[in-house]
This record gives sequence, structure tokens and C-alpha cells, in this order.
Amino acid sequence: MKLIANIIFQVQLIAIFFSSFVYAKENKDEELYQIYTNSSLLWAPYRSNCYFGLRPRYINDSPLIMGIMWFDSSNQNGLAQMRHFVNLEDKLKRYSWEVYDPRYGGKENIIDEANNLNITYSFVKTNDGQNWSVRVNGQALNPKKKTSGSIVVYLSQNGEDKTSNIIKIDGPDPNNLHFVGLSKELGDYHISVTDNYGKYFKAVKRTPFETAPDADSSQTSHLAMVVPDKQIWKARDIFQTLITESINQITSSTSTDIHPSLIPSIFTLRNIFNFNGGNFHYIQKSFDMKKDFEFDIIYNHEKSLEKINSENDVTQLIQSAINKINIKFNKKFKFDYKFEDKKSFALETLSNLLGGIGYFHGTQYVDRITELNEDTFEKVDLKNFAEEAPLELFSTVPSRGFFPRGFYWDEGFNLLQVMEYDFGLAFELLSSWINIIEEETGWVPREVILGDEARSKVPDEFIVQTPRIANPPTLFVTLSEMLIKAYEIHESSKSNSNFGVAGEENNLLEENYEILAARIKSLYPKLVKHYDWFRSSQKVLTDDYEEIFDDEGILDNIHLDELYRWSGRTRKHCLPSGLDDYPRAQPPDLSELNVDTLAWVGIMTKSLKKIASILELKDEAKYEKIERNIIENLDTVHWSEENNCYCDVSIDEFDEGRVHVCHKGYISLLPFALKLIPENSDKLEKIVSLMEDKEELYSEFGLRSLSKQDQYYRTEEDYWRGKIWMPMNYINLDALRHYFPDRITENKKNSKDSINKLYHNLKNNLINNIFKVWKKQGFVYENYDPETGAGSGAEQFTGWTALIVNIMGHF
Ligand SMILES: *[C@@H]1O[C@H](CO)[C@@H](O)[C@H](O)[C@H]1NC(C)=O
Ligand SMILES: *[C@@H]1O[C@H](CO)[C@@H](O)[C@H](O)[C@H]1NC(C)=O
Ligand SMILES: *[C@@H]1O[C@H](CO)[C@@H](O)[C@H](O)[C@H]1NC(C)=O
Repeated sequence: MKLIANIIFQVQLIAIFFSSFVYAKENKDEELYQIYTNSSLLWAPYRSNCYFGLRPRYINDSPLIMGIMWFDSSNQNGLAQMRHFVNLEDKLKRYSWEVYDPRYGGKENIIDEANNLNITYSFVKTNDGQNWSVRVNGQALNPKKKTSGSIVVYLSQNGEDKTSNIIKIDGPDPNNLHFVGLSKELGDYHISVTDNYGKYFKAVKRTPFETAPDADSSQTSHLAMVVPDKQIWKARDIFQTLITESINQITSSTSTDIHPSLIPSIFTLRNIFNFNGGNFHYIQKSFDMKKDFEFDIIYNHEKSLEKINSENDVTQLIQSAINKINIKFNKKFKFDYKFEDKKSFALETLSNLLGGIGYFHGTQYVDRITELNEDTFEKVDLKNFAEEAPLELFSTVPSRGFFPRGFYWDEGFNLLQVMEYDFGLAFELLSSWINIIEEETGWVPREVILGDEARSKVPDEFIVQTPRIANPPTLFVTLSEMLIKAYEIHESSKSNSNFGVAGEENNLLEENYEILAARIKSLYPKLVKHYDWFRSSQKVLTDDYEEIFDDEGILDNIHLDELYRWSGRTRKHCLPSGLDDYPRAQPPDLSELNVDTLAWVGIMTKSLKKIASILELKDEAKYEKIERNIIENLDTVHWSEENNCYCDVSIDEFDEGRVHVCHKGYISLLPFALKLIPENSDKLEKIVSLMEDKEELYSEFGLRSLSKQDQYYRTEEDYWRGKIWMPMNYINLDALRHYFPDRITENKKNSKDSINKLYHNLKNNLINNIFKVWKKQGFVYENYDPETGAGSGAEQFTGWTALIVNIMGHF
């Protein structure tokens, strides 16, 4: 590899950047930003649901798709333990990106006890992002066990017209394979799969089967066949079927028992159906785990000036990627921890958030016909669905094992974390979500489930989406935060003439306010569409309330247009709210007013107001007024004097008056957490005292979702009924900083100030517990037990739980 070319590329980049900065050629900047973004984010393990699965971004007609699977082929039942998609039932001890950045690559470690394997996948790219390599390195967890680590790589050149293909080139060495490929979109390329070291599994003192000499574990097996693009994700099923058929053939033709040392050979691929080639390739290597093994898969673009040529090149690229990530990480986060392992915990947690980023393309199922059942509030079956035109989405995921797809309300939180590490990446993800807002209706699905591969991981009842259901609009919060951040950098740079000269590729967007502003301007009409849809679909009919407020003598102070509820709740759940089983008014009723819905509309409005103000759009005054009305309604309609907190509201069945439905917990804090309450409000203190009360929300491990005093605390599903959740803790902690900037000081130990104490205790409790659980249970979790602090729910939940990294490195 020619290092000079690297340097030239960087120098060019800086030069273009610098000159464009000086001459203020906005178009140049924009182009440069696009080139950098498109190339640095082209290749990555974007198949979030796979332990390791690669595909390019925004290449949909003819992507090259890759995946890696493995099993212990010395075990008769090994085939059933073949790993492909992340599956919690595999009970892997570990499947973790230790260090990863989609722009550079990284390292994922797998500890699979059932298969006696410790595998490390290192993924790296060249500077221009066009050429990449995956190093597969393995060792036995227990070398004394005589196992065989069988690694199966598959490659598929998708594209059903004849212009895309991939062919194996015949060569002298059966273990080092070479392919040439052509993708209509990517162009010509070359792939090699070559061994660095290792020992193939050879049967002791036995010759292979006479009847099936090609079933041989002592060398690499290769099989090319035709698999339709839509079926590629079934690579594991297809492999298992081929092996099973092959075994049937072998066992039916021999009467003697098969010697155990021949089992790995039985589990190798051979071409029993006489397939005549095709664009789908399996490459299987079965290693004797008495020794470690390592091989490299290298992809070089044909026109490449600077190819990845050797084992040494790959080693260098891995070192360089890890160095770059460490430098970037250290620059973006400040850690004052004595313990180095806390820092590697933070880097690993962030890496797993980034390692979950996926690029999805495919059809989705939507039911636009079925009405919600809001007489009985029973769950409706969304039977009238249609498969709609393909969409694309670039998104983080909550957890690769359990939720390997985009979730609308998680995304805003996830991006609050991503933006502190890589602002441009966060904006790419966010733009992709805004792009899928429907032009006509303004709706966005709550879960974005695109294509058969994604659907295969979702229980049937959750596959179909309906445009009647909303979800907390967290993306608005993130977008306005991003704009404010870039704007502040921009403003402060006016007095700093040296600004921008450093020309770091990573900061292109963050430090080029004009590009960001232009981008947001072009997204703005969709934001407004979505806002309008949200408000009109969640609005409450207020005829009954008009009379009630009149009787109470407060009608003149109420803004009847700004009262909302989550449409689509059922008796037991309010899925649209995101807080599924959080207790609500019983029985459910159309006249229910949800305080969290109102708060979310409030923050949407406030965010749009900020965007309109910074971008000098004419709508600022309109949003200002709506925001004011919402803030007033929060107090006049939702504040309960009796309970000293914000509550849902409903109409009493008997006296038909307004009643507060108070279940103290996350929804009571939300107006505070979203920073909607005026700074001089007398409610602030009351909310803080609810937060710090050990008998209500405060625990040694973070804020409980529901008060310990509530009758529903920890009952039934116990999902949002006490468990500690990171996103709500995060925004509350952040709101404390916002409301009490002067009272929160570094000095936490002997602080007499109750706010300072609350802030630091809450912060430390969250950090210490999540860290402790990670050390003990090996993962970051969906939520945490309010009594013991133990992790619960989905494991490796490195979506919003990863916000702990901001708390450690920023707060
Ligand atoms: C970058 O990618 C986007 C999305 O595919 C495309 O629209 C745009 O033209 C690309 N820009 C450049 C400079 O290649
Ligand atoms: C797995 O292998 C890596 C080196 O490749 C090593 O650092 C690590 O300690 C191993 N893990 C276990 C659990 O054996
Ligand atoms: C990788 O491939 C691209 C595209 O053909 C080429 O221009 C580039 O020089 C190659 N190598 C590196 C190290 O970027």
C-alpha cells in the first residue's frame, strides 16, 4: 500500500477545504462534504442483525452483500448451533465492537462457549473508503477440547440483470481464493480470501469417504450457486439444507459407522446438486482448534491506485483505524476517571452504538384502512395492509439482537450521543429519517421494518404499521440541538480568524454552518408536514371540556386547540407513548388528556421555533404563540395542586368534572425534562423534590420510571412501572444543568446545596451502576432494576443506554 497516496488524498482534502473556506465558495464546501460523506460511509457492517454482515450504503440495485457464519463442525449437533443473525438464544458470552467507527472500521470480538470459539473480526478501509478488508481471527476458548472451528463466508453480487456478477478465478491453491466481480453501481472489483495461519482439520489416520471424496475438511470448500437477491438473507438455512442433503447421501451409501474424526468432513460443503455456478458463493474453512487461525478477505476496487495487497497492509490498516478512533474519542470526550477500564467501557459502549448502524432498503407493510377501535379500546388486527414501495433508511438500532431496525423515538436519543462523537454522521442519520416523512400525509412509522430480512426478526403482530399511530418526536430535539451547536460555533468563529484551518474531515459539517443551514432549510417543509400531522392526529375533541372549564371558571385561560392524547392506546398499553404499560386513566376514554403528548408537542414547537429563528424563516412568531399556549395549558390543565406534579387528565364518570389521573413518574417530570417550564416557575422546586425523594423516584441506580408509592409500582409486565431507563434519566440530568447552572459545581463531596448534591449523586449512581453491571453481566441493558440495579430487558442494548458515554464524558 502506498502511504504517499494517503497523504496526497488528505492534503488535497485540506487544500480544497482551506481554499473554499477562504473564498467562501459554498458549493465547493457542499461538494467536498458530500464526497467525504459518501465515500467514508460507503462500506460498513450495515447489516445490523448479523453478527458480521457487510453491505454498501445507498447501493440498491446491485450491492455486494457479505456475511460470516460459524459453528463447531466436530460436534454432531454443531449445525444447529451455526451463528448468523444476532440471537439472544445463542447465549454468546460476548459479541461486542470493542472499538469501531463506520468511517474507519474497527474490531468486534465474539465469545461463543458452545462452539468453543473466540473470534475477532477486524474491518478496515482505505482512506478513500473504496477498498476494504475483513480479518477473521480465531482461537479455541479451551484448546484441549478437540473441536473444529468451521467458518463460512458468503458473498453475493446482487443485481438481477446480467451486468452484475462475481466469478471465482481458478488458481493453484485451493485455500487461497480469488474472485473478480462487477456491480452495475460499484464497478469492477477483485476479492481475495487468503490464509495467514492456521491448520485445517484433518481426519486422524483415516482416508476420507470413498463415496464422497469432495467432503473434505482438510482444505477450503467453495460452492457457487444461484440465489435470488430476495433470498440472500437465508444464507444459513440454505447452507444447513445443503449439508443435510449431503449427509443423507453419505450415510445412505455407507453401512459402517462414521468415525468421529470424519465428522468435520461431513459438515463441509460439496456440490451434490451439480450447480453450475452463480453469483452467490459460500467459502468454508474448517480449522483444527488446537491451533489459532487467521485469514483475510480483501476487496479492492479495480481502478484502485493503492490496493490492499498483503497481510501486512491489513495489519497496518487495523492499527491505523484503532489509532484514529482513539484520537477522535479522546478529543470528543473528557474523562477524569482514575480507572482506565471505565474509559474502555465508554469506548466499547459507543462503538456498539455505532456498530449497530444499519442501512436498510425494502418494502414495508402499511394498513391505511383499518380504524382504531376507540369504543372498546381493544387491540385491532391490522389486516388490511399492503406491501408498499421500497424505502431506504440509514439508522441506528436499539439493540442488534432484539431490535435490529430503526425506531423513531429511540433515534432522537441515540443521535444525541452520536452527535457528540461525529456530528456529520449524526446529521446523515437524522436526514435519512426526515426523508422518510411522507410527502402527502406527514406521517412516519413508529418502527421502520424494510424488506424480508428485517421482517424476519419481527413478531407478526408488530410488522404492520398504521398512519394513525404517533410516537414521541425526539428527532426534533436533536435537530434543533445540532443547529444551535453549529450556529454557536459559527458565531464564535467570527471572532477567531484561525478557525477552520485545521480542516478536520470529521468536523466538516459542524464547522460549516452554511452547509448545515442549507440542508436543514431543504428538510424544513417535511418537518412542518410532520408537525401538522402530529398535532392534528393526536388532538382531542374538546366539546366536553369547554363546558367543564366554563363551570370551573377558567375557560378564558385555556387554549382548547392545544390539548392532546395518544391515539391508539388500548386498555393495557399505550404503545404510541413509548412508555407501553405506564399506568393511565382507567377505563380508557376519548376525552383523556395526556400530559406527555402535550409536552412532546411543546418541544416540537419549541424546536421548530428555534430552527425558524436561526434560519430566519418567517414562521417564528406562529410557533412562539403555540409554544406559549402549550406552556400555559401544562400549568392550568395538567398541574395537580393536590399531588404537586403534572398529571394526565380525564373526565370523571360520575360527576363529569375534570380529574387529574396522577401516577407519579416519568410523565410527571417530562415538562421539566424537556425544559418547557419557565425558569421562574414555582413548579421547579416541587419537581426537584419529587426527583430526590427516595420513597418516590430516587434510587441508588437512577430515577425510577414510576413512583415507589404508586399502586401499580412493579406490577404485571413491570416494564415502565419502576424500571430505570437511561433516556429519561439523561434528559432530567440535562435539565438540572439547564435550570440550575449556577448551583451545579464541580465540588460534589461536601456540597450543602441540595441541587448540586442531587445532580452529582444521580450522575454517579447511573455511571457506577451501569459500569458495574457491564463488568458483571457483560452487557449494557435496556433498563435496570430499581431495587438491585441489575440489568434487565434486552441485552447489549447499546441504543439509548449508550447515552451514559455523554454523561461520563460531557456532563
Ligand atoms: C452522495 O450520495 C447521495 C445519495 O446517494 C447522492 O444523491 C449524491 O449525489 C452523492 N454526492 C456525490 C458528490 O457523489
Ligand atoms: C480472545 O482472543 C483475544 C486475542 O485474539 C484475547 O485478547 C482475548 O483475551 C480472548 N478472550 C478470551 C475470553 O479468551
Ligand atoms: C480504492 O479504490 C478506489 C476506487 O477505484 C481508488 O481510487 C483508490 O485509490 C483505492 N485505494 C485507496 C487506498 O484508496
